[in-house]
Amino acid sequence: MHDGFASPEDRAAFITALPKAELHLHIEGSLEPELMFELAQRNGVAIPFANVEEVRAAYAFSNLQDFLDIYYQGMGVLHTEQDFYDLTAAYLSRAQADAVRHVEIFFDPQGHTARGVAFETVITGISRAFDDAQARYGITSKLILCFLRHLSETAAEATLDAALPYLDRIAGVGLDSSEVGHPPAKFERVFARARALGLKIVAHAGEEGPPAYVYEALDLLKVDRIDHGNRSLEDLALVARLAAAGMTLTVCPLSNLKLCVVDDLAAHPLKTMLEAGLHATVNSDDPSYFGGYVNANYQAVADALDLSKADLVTLARNSITGSFLDDAAKSEHLAAIDAYSRA
Ligand code: ADE
Ligand code: ZN
Repeated sequence: MHDGFASPEDRAAFITALPKAELHLHIEGSLEPELMFELAQRNGVAIPFANVEEVRAAYAFSNLQDFLDIYYQGMGVLHTEQDFYDLTAAYLSRAQADAVRHVEIFFDPQGHTARGVAFETVITGISRAFDDAQARYGITSKLILCFLRHLSETAAEATLDAALPYLDRIAGVGLDSSEVGHPPAKFERVFARARALGLKIVAHAGEEGPPAYVYEALDLLKVDRIDHGNRSLEDLALVARLAAAGMTLTVCPLSNLKLCVVDDLAAHPLKTMLEAGLHATVNSDDPSYFGGYVNANYQAVADALDLSKADLVTLARNSITGSFLDDAAKSEHLAAIDAYSRA
């Protein structure tokens, strides 16, 4: 067994209670089929599935777009403030079970406003669940508004306008949806405005898109983190730059497997990233669609790549240092990780 653990069971137990942050989680991607059915019934929305098994059977994807088509369809059951509360509360309860102490959650307002659901309905339900989870579990949460990159920059500007009354509840903005053909450059102006408003900046880049998109995210959007970033490894100068900058990558192993970004977890680049000095983290992306929450991602990739205890501690520490928490909170979480790994 790899250094630090007596057995695979020993490593699994270590992952289970390892304090960690999750930095790449689309709240709409945590909609479990059971809740989808409940909300469809509650809201009188028709869904093209007879039961939960049929829904799960439909979750076979050959690329990102395959997944996105079903993801946008799934979120169509979300209508009321209570729906967004229930969705977020369910995720935070799962996060608590995985020893997640802090989360930075993406939401896709354009997936809702396009269906006539008010921005306020979405953000109020999510925020209420954040407050309850903090009171109940001590989990802290931040919210990141993502622009859908298959839509126009004008539509992103309108979304940022709609967010202006709620900036006290929004930590940052991100960029998600169909990557190839929608480079970061398309959104340079709206991200400049978000930066000027004091928002943190992240972007999905290098999931399916080329290293050039990662350069654009750095140089044009001026990101604080890169979401995924897998294809950065194709460009050694880019790897050196990301390592020197201490840029955090929010890596999502089971997502990469389900969307065929990797053929096999044994071929996943996470270990190579760590060896190259990249600040990689492990995250679940859309756990209901990809078959596992954050600990399942740690577990699967640890088994596939035979990660050591030191690797796992590095990943958990990276999740804290790469978060948008203040320095005092980061120090507290890092001390908890170090105490846990010594115990
Ligand atoms: N939206 C939800 N999950 C996504 C992913 N993995 N990539 C791009 N857009 C997304
Ligand atoms: Zn994502």
